[in-house]
Amino acid sequence: MLEIIILAAGRGTRMRSSTPKVLHALAGEPLLGHVLRAARNLRPDNIHIVVGCGADEVERAVAAEDVMFHIQTEQLGTGHAVAQALPHCHPDSQVLVLFGDVPLIQSESLAQLIQGAADGLGLLAINLDDPKGYGRIVRDAAGDFAEIVEDRDCTDTQKQLTEVNTGILVGPAERLSTLLAQVGNDNAQGEFYLPDILRIAVGQGDAVTLVTLEDTEQMMGVNDLSQLETLERVFQQRAAESLMQQGVAIVDRSRIDIRGTLKCGAGVRIDVNAVFEGDVTLADGVSVGANCVIIDSIVGANTTVQPFCHIEQARIGGDCRIGPYARLRPGSALADEVRVGNFVETKNSQFGQGSKANHLAYVGDSEIGAGSNIGAGTITCNYDGVNKHKTVLGEGVFVGSNSTLVAPVTLGDHAFVAAGSVVTNTVADNELALGRARQRNVKGWQRPGKEKE
Ligand code: UD1
Ligand code: MG
Repeated sequence: MLEIIILAAGRGTRMRSSTPKVLHALAGEPLLGHVLRAARNLRPDNIHIVVGCGADEVERAVAAEDVMFHIQTEQLGTGHAVAQALPHCHPDSQVLVLFGDVPLIQSESLAQLIQGAADGLGLLAINLDDPKGYGRIVRDAAGDFAEIVEDRDCTDTQKQLTEVNTGILVGPAERLSTLLAQVGNDNAQGEFYLPDILRIAVGQGDAVTLVTLEDTEQMMGVNDLSQLETLERVFQQRAAESLMQQGVAIVDRSRIDIRGTLKCGAGVRIDVNAVFEGDVTLADGVSVGANCVIIDSIVGANTTVQPFCHIEQARIGGDCRIGPYARLRPGSALADEVRVGNFVETKNSQFGQGSKANHLAYVGDSEIGAGSNIGAGTITCNYDGVNKHKTVLGEGVFVGSNSTLVAPVTLGDHAFVAAGSVVTNTVADNELALGRARQRNVKGWQRPGKEKE
């Protein structure tokens, strides 16, 4: 049996934030969510999370059927935290302890530790050029593991040690309980340190297996906002690397942000400063220009999204041209070969094949037939201050510039709206709608002159 305990009760004082540390977002997901994913990949029998500071908020954020929460009312140290969950683990299980603030850990590394330790005690170690802040691994004269000394408790000589504790350890539940009961808090922080169990164990003849990880980035912890930013970049560069290996042309790996899942077809190109959130799919040959934000959307094959577009919950067909500076809001559904140009906002609207709104328009709650053309400055007045209404355009409709379509209103196939019209009534197929005052020229009219003082 495998049980996993994730420690997430700490205050996170160094974050200087009212949000509990483990709920700070990395790639759009709470730190704890990343740890939980690695934990779940191991298919354990149970997952326990020890919560304390901001417990309600943390529980709400990650509540799931496969997770048990245990409250650590006072944060008396990592050993004390583990002791809150241990009584709820099966006595015959192997227990893996993870930290909620070490989010890049991969399940493969954890599996390596579990395998290395067999059914005994094991610890994940790393070597760091700059070990500051970490617990140092101290070995005896024979080179065998002796103990872990916390940074604040280190002698000057111990401070030079570069082999450090990742905090992640594994051991049999019953043995861990026995050992934890013997841990004291006579140290610089007056806390019950989890790693102390290993010194006690070695003293009692237990073997402790050290599994050393080469990939130190996986083990980096988040203790302040600067470390959070560092880890964010590590995460994003790894995501970019993996996409490039799949054939996605990313112009600059340090200027892309994926906060969710990005699926790409063949021949996709992504220019600088693109942000992807939620579930985004870019089909074959899609090109995303600089400075675009794309959220929960699907972009069809060979569509070009030009720079500075904001696209959310939209479905875009193939061979479309979007932007620059277009805003597609939720419910925008574009067929193939549609063009949505600069300063055009769409919302909850279907665009038929080959239809266009190239400049400065608002199209909301609308159905636009195939091949229709929405002129510059066209506004669908979909809201009467209380309710939303629909605008329906047939195929091949031409809406002249600066027109106002007051919904609910329907324009038949091939209808034509004269520029500057306010359209309030149905326009039948092939009809011309002229909804404006006629031009009147005044002969002999005089410009106002400057008034005399
Ligand atoms: C800990 C280790 C250190 C290791 C380092 C690796 C101890 C005593 N020290 O130090 O050897 O090198 O991690 O990152 O274990 N927590 C609780 N309850 C508590 C205290 C902490 O749940 O009472 C949780 C925190 O929320 C956090 C984790 O335990 O997720 C680690 O605590 P933190 O204070 O960050 O320990 P470090 O000083 O980083
Ligand atoms: Mg820490």
